[in-house]
Amino acid sequence: MLISEIIRRKRDGQTLNRQMLDLVMKGIADDSIGDAQIGAFAMAVYLNGMNRDEAIALTESIRDSGQVMRWDDLDLQGPVLDKHSTGGVGDLTSLVLGPWVAACGGHVPMVSGRGLGHTGGTLDKLESIPGYDVTPPDATFRQLVQDVGIAIIGQTGSLAPADKRLYGVRDVTATVESIPLIVASILGKKLACGLKTLVMDVKVGSGAFMPTPEASRELAEAIVAIGCGAGTTTSVLLTDMNQPLADCAGNALEIQEALRLLRGDGRNQERGDGRDSRLYTVIRSLAAEMLIQSGLAASAEDADRRLDRALDSGEALERFSRMVHGLGGPADLAERADHYLAAAPVEIDLTATDAGTLNAIDTRELGLAVVELGGGRRNAGDAIDHRVGLSQIAALGQAVEPGQPLLRIHGASRADVEAASHRLRRAVTLSDAPTEAPPLVHAALR
Ligand code: URA
Repeated sequence: MLISEIIRRKRDGQTLNRQMLDLVMKGIADDSIGDAQIGAFAMAVYLNGMNRDEAIALTESIRDSGQVMRWDDLDLQGPVLDKHSTGGVGDLTSLVLGPWVAACGGHVPMVSGRGLGHTGGTLDKLESIPGYDVTPPDATFRQLVQDVGIAIIGQTGSLAPADKRLYGVRDVTATVESIPLIVASILGKKLACGLKTLVMDVKVGSGAFMPTPEASRELAEAIVAIGCGAGTTTSVLLTDMNQPLADCAGNALEIQEALRLLRGDGRNQERGDGRDSRLYTVIRSLAAEMLIQSGLAASAEDADRRLDRALDSGEALERFSRMVHGLGGPADLAERADHYLAAAPVEIDLTATDAGTLNAIDTRELGLAVVELGGGRRNAGDAIDHRVGLSQIAALGQAVEPGQPLLRIHGASRADVEAASHRLRRAVTLSDAPTEAPPLVHAALR
């Protein structure tokens, strides 16, 4: 069938079957289809949508457009599973959750991305660690997934290659914001990793990828239906991104925070008030969901027991250290983090000018401030300054007095820090009225 006939069908509101979608995705992957037809296809889907079966077929076609990982030839003692997030600010969940779940008996082949827009990227964070190789040989990756239970690497050209081109064209043809295209793009890549179980973290709030809570929910519902329809047990936690998840954002700063959590320091330590940190709570919720959905834990209580044991025994930290060393980083990162993770030369506190309660944070602006400081890319291919970012970010609902810090800015120069401080002051709103912090986990969809 001609590609133009497939596009015509979609343009005219008819449905596409798996064969037709395979033809399009294969043609995108092997470059036999040009950008004009890719753009027309994306726009036809954007305008007319897809029914559930079509969206499942599109996801499977993207998944199968390249190599699909298989694990059944290895002697794995536990399930192959993963978590993926729609992205956020101060969201270093993967760095802690992967080793933690590995320490509970899971095998996590985590293929992660770089920073996108205002959101940070797990690969950029890991590259703060000297020597860490995000593109290891396939054999190294598989060996680590088997022996250590976790390896976090970058996407290879052979994994869901149709998505890379399709996404690039969507980006310049105003067709990113389509639920079936987003779900097929996210899940196509993830399911190519041969997962039994996937838990998605869909963010809600001022720093979320989706613009409204309703849109986040719609995306979450589609992910569950399409992921399960494509044969992988898929569930979603809708989690809050109305403020940075950690109290820091920036690449090396987030590695330091991951090590702190893996040492067990996220518990009962939120700014000395005796509660678990937000980051710890969200990671633990996602990890428990992974254990239960994959069958590694028989109940919520069982998941709690296993997670406590893995953290208290030091096994989760040990898995992280083995992964880092196995991918070329130092063997003693956990013991000598300050030696390996460079600090920014300039640090300045942004202080409150008035008394009040922290009432709103424009989380997207905070993420963009990190990019402006050099912690993310303005253009693809830009070099990153891993040292820069924000720390000690005050939390929603926190009362501050004049002169008290709202956050600390870490920059390469005084000029950079001052420029960021103007932007950041506008991103933080104080009010006289008490403010309730939003819930951390808005909902779970299974
Ligand atoms: N992330 C993806 O990987 N794909 C999309 O389409 C949107 C976000």
